[in-house]
Formats: sequence, C-alpha cells, structure tokens
Amino acid sequence: MPNKKKPLVYITRKLPDPVETRMRELFEAELNIDDAPRSREELAAAMTRADVLVPTVTDRIDAELIEAAGPQLKLIASFSNGIDHVDVEAAARKGITVTNTPNVLTEDTADMAMALILAVPRRLAEGARVLTDRKGDWEGWSPTWMLGHRIWGKRLGIIGMGRIGTAVARRAKAFGLAIHYHNRHRVSPQTEASLEATYWDSLDQMLARVDIVSVNCPSTPATYHLMSARRLALMQPTSYLVNTARGGVVDETALIKCIREGKIAGAGLDVFENEPIVNPKLLKLAHENKVVLLPHMSSATIESRIDMGEKVIINIRTYFDGHRPPDRVLPRRA
Ligand code: DGY
Repeated sequence: MPNKKKPLVYITRKLPDPVETRMRELFEAELNIDDAPRSREELAAAMTRADVLVPTVTDRIDAELIEAAGPQLKLIASFSNGIDHVDVEAAARKGITVTNTPNVLTEDTADMAMALILAVPRRLAEGARVLTDRKGDWEGWSPTWMLGHRIWGKRLGIIGMGRIGTAVARRAKAFGLAIHYHNRHRVSPQTEASLEATYWDSLDQMLARVDIVSVNCPSTPATYHLMSARRLALMQPTSYLVNTARGGVVDETALIKCIREGKIAGAGLDVFENEPIVNPKLLKLAHENKVVLLPHMSSATIESRIDMGEKVIINIRTYFDGHRPPDRVLPRRA
C-alpha cells in the first residue's frame, strides 16, 4: 500500500509462516511468534491500539472487551470459520466490522467428520492402541476378535446441512450410508436428489430413526445444547454421535450419562464444551473405548490454515480499500 499508512494489525496466535510474512509485507503486523495464548488484559490493551484485531477460536472477544476498545479499532478479522467467540452484535453497536474465513476448511472438516463416523463403530483408535500399547505383541487375527459394526447400509442423520454438512453427506453417501438431515431450511431439490437425502423438519423424529448422528450446525444461542438430555435419549441404543462443530451444541454431561447407561453406543468428538479442558469422565470413556476424542483438529491441514490466512488478508485489504469485505459477518436477526 504505497503512500498509505499501514493499518496496525494485531494477530493473537502464531499463523503459518507464509501468512505471517505476507501480513508483515502488507500491514504493521504484530505477530505472536511463540504462540502463547493472549490474556484478557493483553487483548484489552491491544484493542486500544490496533486498527485490526485478528483473533482465533481460542480468544473470547465479548461485549465487555469490545465496548472498552479504542475508536481506532475498525475491524475484527477472525482467523476462523465459526464466529461464536466474537460478540458480533456488540461489534456492530460499536461500528466495528467483523469477518470470518468460510469455505476453505469445509472439505478438511468433512473429512474428519467422516473419519470419526468410521472410527467409533469400526474401533479404529482401539485397534491402533492394541499394537502400540502392546509394543507390537498381539496374538494375530481371529474370527471373533475386534468386531465392530458395519456402516455401509446404515442411516446417517446430519444436523445442519450447510457447507460442511453437505460435504459430510457427499462422503457418507459414497460409503453407502443413507443420508437424512435436519436443517432450518430444506436444501435445494437438486442437492436433495443428488444426495438421495431425506429431510426431517422434526429433529426429534430424525434422531429416533438414524444409526449415526453428525453435528454440523454453527454454535448460536439457538443451538446451545440442541442435543439436550431429552434429545439424546431419543437416539437408539445402538447409535453413535459425532461432533465436529462446537462442543456447546451437545450437552456433554448428558452425553456421558447416556453412553454410561448404554442409551447410546458411543461418540466421536473433535470439540468440547470447555476447551481446552476435557471432561475427565470423557477421558475415562475413551480409555474404555466407548468414545474417540480428537483435540479440535478437523480443519488442521496446512492447506486450510494458509487459505484461512489468505482470506483474513483479503478481508483486511478490501476493508481498507474502502469496500465491503467478502466474508463480512452480520449480527443475527432477533
Ligand atoms: C473454525 O475455524 O471455526 C474451526 O473450528 C477451527 O478448526
């Protein structure tokens, strides 16, 4: 940006090298080379100086922080698809634009949802551990050992048929699963036809009829504990739950209880209610091979993280060129 004062861009976490290098070329970029999560005080101080804040899902940018921000803060360009960690309404009240990084992590996240759909019924993590824990010492193949459950021919119920939910459906169809879904709006007839998908306007009714449930909806006040104790109890005792969306969509305590009591067969989780803390009762279930747990890594490919960085840069550039950034997030309508 020749002859223009470069915006001061405060980036809360370490980003891939090519993204950071480009940001240093384009902006007055304050990086976080050692990647230590920033404290609330550090964020508050940065928000009184920076023109742009680039947070990630590990930062809670709530109304209090936003209200205390200096008048120079014009843009919160989040390095994330989900935006539940930013109070978008408070930002709008203060005239701050918010952007995210949609699309570029869709396929990677859907891959991991599919991996978890396979992992639990087919005992993938347990099988891998047999070899590593016993240092390769096992008794060999047996007709009745390590039997899991076939997923081909089963029914998958997708909650949230947006970009990621649809990408999960495409994969699952190829694995021979029948696609069922619940969404605020029905998808287009073409999409439904190509996926041979069955729409349920009643989530309760869908839950009682599918073998695997995949949570793919965003975290909003309306989806908080959408999978409540009551809804989890509607699932079949042979069914599994997979969550690659946000921990808060599932009542974790109720899920643990349902699995303990044999009301659900198991779960594959990449996200948790109180990240980075994982409920010890879930860890215990993992040791008993009832759940497969991953540390929020569905979008963790170098390709997606570079593309996310590219989106952040484009959003910042577009904003300071006086245009509407492509990935603007608007406050939810009441
Ligand atoms: C996001 O960006 O919302 C993802 O959860 C990060 O993996």
